[in-house]
Amino acid sequence: MFPNFWTPVLPIAEIGAEPIAVELAGESLVLFCDSGGQFSALFDRCPHRGAPLSRGQVTEDGCLECPYHGWRFATDGTCTRVPFNPLTSVQLSKLSVVSFPTKAIAGMLWIFTGTENVLDPQLPSSLLEPSDRYIIHHEIWNAHWTRAIDISLDYLHLPFVHRNSFGGELNDAAHKDAIAQISITSTADGMTVTNRLNTLSSGTEINWHQPNNIVLNLDGMPLLPHFFAIPINTQQMRFMQVLLPNPRIDRSNFDFDEFFAASDDDRTMIESQIGEVPNVNEGYNVPTDEPSLRFRRWYYRAVKNKS
Ligand code: FES
Ligand SMILES: [Fe+2]
Repeated sequence: MFPNFWTPVLPIAEIGAEPIAVELAGESLVLFCDSGGQFSALFDRCPHRGAPLSRGQVTEDGCLECPYHGWRFATDGTCTRVPFNPLTSVQLSKLSVVSFPTKAIAGMLWIFTGTENVLDPQLPSSLLEPSDRYIIHHEIWNAHWTRAIDISLDYLHLPFVHRNSFGGELNDAAHKDAIAQISITSTADGMTVTNRLNTLSSGTEINWHQPNNIVLNLDGMPLLPHFFAIPINTQQMRFMQVLLPNPRIDRSNFDFDEFFAASDDDRTMIESQIGEVPNVNEGYNVPTDEPSLRFRRWYYRAVKNKS
């Protein structure tokens, strides 16, 4: 469903010595952190009898112990102990559980959704700051992850979906007959979309970084918002907002909750749509849909292996 990509899964502040079960792109995983601060993402099924390892516990030696017969697994998935069976290390090495590559970046735990040909993630420089600079909020939406990227690339939903909040101004009479000017620049890992109305002097810039990250550049905004649409399964996704505040703003005076809540309207909209984004030859399109069409073309080719 989402093979061989780096994606954040949860804020690292939420992952400790208690194992956490998460679903990522239809796979059940268990996350934990050992006492040395080493993060781990393992397949959440014990290779012995299939018990969920997330119901086990992290032991003093930093392993995850299965709740059924106590087999222990290190953070890299290697089986380190089978109670009552004096096995050699060669025998133990054949009893590993699948482990996925992890990295802690920008206050989030990232996972690579594959086990082979693992390259380092390509990240925008705005995600390379120390973890404590980011303010993170996430929630589960009942929508396909592609719908969240689609709406985030789409400037012209603002006056309608957000008419009762920050989009209200664009819905004013002054802009009723405006013409949109949308230009796209391809980048190494996606595109930059510049949006403007001919009735306004300023515009917005939307950056898409493959596969599932949107960075907004809003004129006058004292922070840089990153949105991640993280696939859980075909029905659900995790919408993660990662804000990098401008160092000059007084954090105590900025209403972060209000900022996070601005996406409630997007959530309502895309939860009312059905399934993944359609392919480019389905539905009707107009010139201002080009950013969305570029994303869809990429999605059907790179993720779904269809042209
Ligand atoms: S099922 Fe995990 S140790 Fe038996
Ligand atoms: Fe929106």
